[in-house]
Amino acid sequence: MCGIIGVSGVHDAPEVIVEALRRLEYRGYDSAGMTIYQDGRLVRVREATGTHSVELLSKHIKDFQGSDSISGLGHNRWATHGKPSQENAHPQFDCSGRVAVVHNGIVENFLELKEELLNHGHVFSSETDTEVIAHLLEVALIETDRIDFALAEVFSKLRGAMAIVAMETSRPTLLACVRRTSPLIIATNDGEGFIASDIPAILGRAKHYYQIDDGVVAGVELGEINAFKLDHEPAEPREFVVTWDLSRSARDGYDDFMSKEIMEQPQAIRDTLAGRLQLWDSSGIKLDELRLDLEQLLGVNKIFMIGCGTSYHACMAARYAIESLCKIPVELDVASEFRYREPKLDPQTLVIAVSQSGETLDTIAALAEASDSGAISLVVSNVVDSSMARMADAVIYTHAGPEVCVASTKTYLAQIVALELFAIYFAKLKGTSTAKEIQALATALTDLPDKVEQLTNRFAEMIQVASKVEAFERFYFIGRNVGFPVALEGALKLKELSYLPAEGFPAGELKHGPIAMLDPSSVVVAIATRGRLWEKVMANLQEVKARGAKVLLVANEGDQQTIAEGDAAFLVPQTHPLLSPVLDTIPLQVLAYHLARFRGFDVDRPRNLAKTVTVE
Ligand code: G6P
Repeated sequence: MCGIIGVSGVHDAPEVIVEALRRLEYRGYDSAGMTIYQDGRLVRVREATGTHSVELLSKHIKDFQGSDSISGLGHNRWATHGKPSQENAHPQFDCSGRVAVVHNGIVENFLELKEELLNHGHVFSSETDTEVIAHLLEVALIETDRIDFALAEVFSKLRGAMAIVAMETSRPTLLACVRRTSPLIIATNDGEGFIASDIPAILGRAKHYYQIDDGVVAGVELGEINAFKLDHEPAEPREFVVTWDLSRSARDGYDDFMSKEIMEQPQAIRDTLAGRLQLWDSSGIKLDELRLDLEQLLGVNKIFMIGCGTSYHACMAARYAIESLCKIPVELDVASEFRYREPKLDPQTLVIAVSQSGETLDTIAALAEASDSGAISLVVSNVVDSSMARMADAVIYTHAGPEVCVASTKTYLAQIVALELFAIYFAKLKGTSTAKEIQALATALTDLPDKVEQLTNRFAEMIQVASKVEAFERFYFIGRNVGFPVALEGALKLKELSYLPAEGFPAGELKHGPIAMLDPSSVVVAIATRGRLWEKVMANLQEVKARGAKVLLVANEGDQQTIAEGDAAFLVPQTHPLLSPVLDTIPLQVLAYHLARFRGFDVDRPRNLAKTVTVE
């Protein structure tokens, strides 16, 4: 979704803005723009050529030569109101070009505000809701000469989740920003001020990073921050520590971020486990940041797990471990559905929200609903101090490092691992599993990074297997038990990246409908690693083969009996059954990767998708 950058006091402002927009491209966008204060006015360039927009924008850097060109705004737009076009790209200006605004989110009441402004003679040049903010600031600046004060006044009129950064020509070094639910961070570095929607935008450039609460306005000027609430009471921006380094958000010689992030999976798991699995310690698991009252946790009699997209699949994959170890009912829900089915929540319910970004609006809204109902909330997030991490009673961070490719890979595996750690922790607390059961899973977790590495080291071999189905155009993924979420995730990855029709089913459900679609032009990808229901998967495979579909297997290394049942097989090491989704998913990431590249698609920035979806 839209990416925002604002800079103040930065001598290479145009370069820094374009570089930030480049690093924010992963969020998904269709057009881009920037404005720089130069020679007493705001000079603006905008491009609307899809994912080439930032590249084209970079060609304008040389046009900004003024010694006063030290402040400006940049934006990658993901269209909501109005088609992708130069006119609708941000920054948006007021009538006179004095005020510039970049914005992420939706102004829900923009139509009524726009009508009022039109009645007062304002002239609009775009179809966006954002432009309303610029014109409202123009009006507010009649009463005050500070853009941050004007923004405070305007913000109270806007409904919806959003983040805004604004500047104006009479004091161009002063940037003003505010947020409601949507992400926004502030950073400084010796006389330089930055505002961005995400950390990678300014990684390596900024020294100190700050969060502001919802409804707090911040004026950022040359490295100084002046934050206040809408009633003008002072507010303290919260400094937080960023441990990500620049090399982890650069491609590092890989063709794309997706292959880099697939290869980083062993490290992502190692870092997520680090220091948490105290095998020889009687406490077993160390989850320092969990910050939950143990009595309260012991009183939990039901768990809901919620997430969107890949994060939802992580919930589904880890549910088996939580149910089996903790002997507690676990319900699953896609976050956008959870709140509307009026689930029964009370202080004995634990709601676990899983989100790579910690900023997905559907999940945030579901989490807020859960907290309002008195349920205990736990968030699994990859971004420290994300909105969800701050909202929840407890948090477990995945330490996968920045993930740039829109489609999640390493954060997905890290989420499953974090949730399985929680399963062990909770089971030990409740005393619902034997020491032997816990030890078996803990040992398997310790061995897991090396097994993942064995697999990622065979990237080229997996591509070879994937190439056998290059010519096919319809894919069905089947699995049972822990193999079912793997099937769903495999199908999602393929849809996201290669735009091929792909569906995932529980293997036993095939005969109740989907089997009607099978013929020799279809591929069935079966998760056939040795687990509790392996024999039943084998039986389902016979049904598939009888319909002539091509069979691609995910099977264990050396399992000739299974391998003989398919036309081709991805081979994965054996592990604890509850951890097999971690290993079994990797070849399916590679399958989606290869089929997308084979068709000439951009794997890092698939069409129509955004990495962080900040609208409902
Ligand atoms: C978007 C992305 C998906 C992602 C989902 C949830 O739809 O395109 O790849 O799985 O959001 O994101 P989250 O940050 O909450 O894990």
